[in-house]
Amino acid sequence: VEALGAQARLSRSLVITGFMGAGKSTAVRAVARVLEAEPLDADAVLEERLGMPIPDFFDAHGEQAFREREEQVVLELLDRGAPVVGLGGGAVENPRIRAALRDHLCVWIDVDVDTCWRRVLGSARPLARDRDAFVARFARRRPLYEEVAHAVLGGAQSIVPALPSLRAMPPGARMAWATTAGGSYPVVVGEGLVDAPWPAPGRAFTVTDATVRELWARDADVIVPAGEQHKTLRTAEQVWHDLVRLDVTRGDHLRAVGGGVVGDLTGFCAATYQRGVPVVQVPTTLLAQVDAAIGGKTGVDLPQAKNYVGAYHQPLAVLSDLRTLGTLPASEHAAGYAEVVKTALIAGGTLWERVASGGPVDADVVFACARTKVRVVGADERDGGLRQVLNLGHTVAHAIETVSRHQVLHGPAVSLGLLAALRLSGRDALRDQVRDLLGAAGLPTTLPGIDAAEVAATTRRDKKRTGEAVPFVLVHAPGDVRHGEAVGSADLLAAVEELGRAA
Ligand SMILES: NC(=O)c1ccc[n+]([C@@H]2O[C@H](COP(=O)([O-])OP(=O)(O)OC[C@H]3O[C@@H](n4cnc5c(N)ncnc54)[C@H](O)[C@@H]3O)[C@@H](O)[C@H]2O)c1
Repeated sequence: VEALGAQARLSRSLVITGFMGAGKSTAVRAVARVLEAEPLDADAVLEERLGMPIPDFFDAHGEQAFREREEQVVLELLDRGAPVVGLGGGAVENPRIRAALRDHLCVWIDVDVDTCWRRVLGSARPLARDRDAFVARFARRRPLYEEVAHAVLGGAQSIVPALPSLRAMPPGARMAWATTAGGSYPVVVGEGLVDAPWPAPGRAFTVTDATVRELWARDADVIVPAGEQHKTLRTAEQVWHDLVRLDVTRGDHLRAVGGGVVGDLTGFCAATYQRGVPVVQVPTTLLAQVDAAIGGKTGVDLPQAKNYVGAYHQPLAVLSDLRTLGTLPASEHAAGYAEVVKTALIAGGTLWERVASGGPVDADVVFACARTKVRVVGADERDGGLRQVLNLGHTVAHAIETVSRHQVLHGPAVSLGLLAALRLSGRDALRDQVRDLLGAAGLPTTLPGIDAAEVAATTRRDKKRTGEAVPFVLVHAPGDVRHGEAVGSADLLAAVEELGRAA
């Protein structure tokens, strides 16, 4: 424990925040044990100062008076530089506390409202007496936790495993902790990650493609040719041979520095080389940072079909360096943007609002997209259900790619596919809004000359439909995207035909 404590010690105060019932006290105690520090709970210190339990003070003096006393105590604790501080759930509503948190390492334990309610039900907490008010308060505070958090964990049990990563994070970076049956790992979004050391076993061997090598990975050990046409077994075999030549053992790890092609290929080689070596994903395209690098799907293409051979192999970490997006060609940026819009529709909430406002894809947007993917794959690692929502827009997109013999590339095809999915969802105003966003990003919103009948037929074949209805991912509203929805053949055809008409 001592060695772990020394290793995990942080240069800033670790501040734990989250809603009532999220598990903050458990997390504070767990991390204090490892750091061999005194667990400081702001509410406990407050009760001492108030000379009475918080519920009694609340009843006697009201929330306003409580918040004033809370501010004094929290600012004092933060100022003192205590190693571990747990905050009361409402502390983030205070702007002075939020400002003070910027200088510390703030961890948000993000647990859903139903779990929180179940845990506090029957407790003496004054704010846990009325469920509707509880839910409303939860919704009001979420964006505030989001604003102050440097790291987001899905539960108190992740805090100890996350400590080494919290320590390794460069200043200004943010982390989401991914938890799947196949492994738990940090997804870090920030600057300076592409060549920073990261705590991982053994020696690091970097795999990249020829283009990315010139820009971001001059010291790479294994170089593959760039492009989807090289995401093949043949290239995988070249990588395996290089790993043998470099004497890579199971005690070492690979670093995949590049776009989704390098990530999928390297992940696949890592899953299979000596029956599995660890891999750190360092995505350098927008598409890979918001989507491909997260979730552990790896693989290569066969001549017959894309991604036909592969394995689930969760990474040790995903390190997204925002600086790498600066060298991305406009067409690759646009391709990633189509996935950003898809992800924002799935997430709803503040991510959707940001994207819908037409603002730039900045650190907040990339991080929020990464968190959404983390949440979806955490709930469903192996495509059994929820993960299928990630296929929003992709059903028609794949058919367009196939029918056009890949003359229409993936990003533009997803743009068109999203518009078809929104029409099929009956969300006409939302479709117009998304069309304008995609168009402004340089993505196509119509495809004159499209063979609509062939695209619709290919879509139905692709979905292995059993009857007349084709199962689809549809948008009921931003934040309410459902898979397995039935779509009639005539409606499908009409939605694709519409893409062929000029605006
Ligand atoms: N595993 C998953 O869950 C998942 C999800 C979505 C997509 N994918 C896969 O991802 C792949 C597409 O990924 P992609 O769009 O990143 O393609 P990519 O890896 O081919 O990258 C696109 C191009 O950009 C170049 N590039 C990469 N980073 C750069 C940078 N920072 N500056 C300049 N150029 C750069 C690459 O060399 C390449 O030429 C597909 O094979 C797809 O199947 C996987």
